[in-house]
Amino acid sequence: MKAKFITLDGIDGAGKSTNLETIRLWFEQHQLPVLFTREPGGTAVGEALRTILLDSHSQLNARTETLLMFAARQQHLDTVIKPALAAGKHVVSDRFTDATFAYQGGGREIPLSDIAILENWVQHGFCPDMTLLLDISLSVAQQRVAQHSDPDRFEQLDSAFFERTRKIYLDRAATAPQRYHIINSNQPLAEVAAQINQSLSQLFGYTA
Ligand SMILES: Nc1ncnc2c1ncn2[C@@H]1O[C@H](COP(=O)(O)OP(=O)(O)OP(=O)(O)O)[C@@H](O)[C@H]1O
Ligand SMILES: [Mg+2]
Repeated sequence: MKAKFITLDGIDGAGKSTNLETIRLWFEQHQLPVLFTREPGGTAVGEALRTILLDSHSQLNARTETLLMFAARQQHLDTVIKPALAAGKHVVSDRFTDATFAYQGGGREIPLSDIAILENWVQHGFCPDMTLLLDISLSVAQQRVAQHSDPDRFEQLDSAFFERTRKIYLDRAATAPQRYHIINSNQPLAEVAAQINQSLSQLFGYTA
């Protein structure tokens, strides 16, 4: 079986990090090798860029921010994601390129066509086998994020920013319904987990 690349995406507070545990358990139960990683980050240089990108004191314009996201992604793809897949390990990433389209394209209003140029330059058509899009209403996400004491550069942005971000995620999902599985993350964790397990089982052919 060819190793699969699975990404988890959605706005801040959608439950991506929380649901990694569900995914970890699924791989454990099915005894499949898997590597968990995240963006921006996943490598030494990527994590250094993440610090800059999330630091609320960083003065970054939107284009610089977009380029740093792809710089981190290039390193991540070349040194972590592709080698793991080539070695037969499945890879699960907490965020990937959909987040750049949604946040820098939707949120920051960088033209989507410009982001697509960078995507092609870095990825040459490489994309996830499945993206679990955790979709959540803004009000529920904000309630959940409000429990953090120290918001990062993105978490400080206003509702209009996140409405634009969420819309791009949903627009992208609508254009490739076979790749995107939209998970209703407003639900209690157990129900979110059940939907994720079902998507994973379908991807790996464990269901009819
Ligand atoms: N289904 C759920 N029901 C109730 N609370 C949840 C649910 N999913 C996540 N949470 C809580 O919501 C908060 C945000 O979740 P989490 O950190 O997983 O989101 P995230 O998508 O990783 O956000 P970020 O993009 O900021 O990293 C956490 O406190 C988590 O415990
Ligand atoms: Mg998270």
